[in-house]
Amino acid sequence: MKFTYYGHSCFSIMVAGKNILFDPFITDNPMASSIDVNAIHPDIIMVSHGHSDHTGDLFAMALRSNALVVSNFEICSWLEAKGYSNSHPMNIGGAKTFDWGKVKMTTAIHSSSLPDGTYGGNPGGFVVETAEGTFYYSGDTALTYDFKLIGEEYDLDFAILPIGDNFTMGPDDAIRCSEFIKCDKIIGVHYDTFPYIVIDKKNTIKEFDQAGKELILLAIGESIEL
Ligand code: NI
Ligand code: MN
Repeated sequence: MKFTYYGHSCFSIMVAGKNILFDPFITDNPMASSIDVNAIHPDIIMVSHGHSDHTGDLFAMALRSNALVVSNFEICSWLEAKGYSNSHPMNIGGAKTFDWGKVKMTTAIHSSSLPDGTYGGNPGGFVVETAEGTFYYSGDTALTYDFKLIGEEYDLDFAILPIGDNFTMGPDDAIRCSEFIKCDKIIGVHYDTFPYIVIDKKNTIKEFDQAGKELILLAIGESIEL
C-alpha cells in the first residue's frame, strides 16, 4: 500500500488500484502550499468529521474527481444538498463491503460541525480491511476504551492517529491507543499545522520508541510503501 501525506490529517492510500483520500484539507493549509490539489485524483474520499480542517477541499475535490465520498450520514446529506450525490453514508458501528475493501466506521470522541455551521453528525474513524492489509484511521479523537474493541477484532498492519494534543490525543494518549488497538506501527497526523498543536517531533518519536512503538512522521508530499 502506498501512503502519501498531504499535511495535517490529509493523506492518501493506494490500495487495490484505488486511490483513497482521507480528510481533504490542502488549499487552506499554509503548510501544504507545495501540494497541487488538482494533481490528486481520488477514487474514494473518506471523511472522518465535518470540521474545516478535514473538509476544506471536500466539495471541490469531489466535484472535480467524482470520487465516492464515504462519511457519516449528515456529511453525505450536506454534500447532496449542495448538489453532490456520489456518496455512501455510514454511521458508527456499521460496516460495508466495497469492491476495494471492507470499511467499519468506529467511535471517535470529538465534535463535528461543518464549515457553514450545519450539524456534521457524530465524528468517527475507519477500519479498512483490504486484500493488501488492514489499517485504522481514528479521525480526531480523545483516548477511549472503545479502542480495545478494535484491538480485539482486527489484526492491524498500521494505524494513523492524531498526536498534536489540545484538540485530540497527544503523544502519551496515542501511545496508549496503540496499546489498546494492538498496533505498533503508527503514522502521526494532526500536529504542527496550528500553534495550538505544535509538538516536539524528535522527542515524540523517542517516546514512542521507548514504548516499543514505531512513530512515522512524514514530510508533506512524502510517500512511503507500507
Ligand atoms: Ni476536528
Ligand atoms: Mn481536526
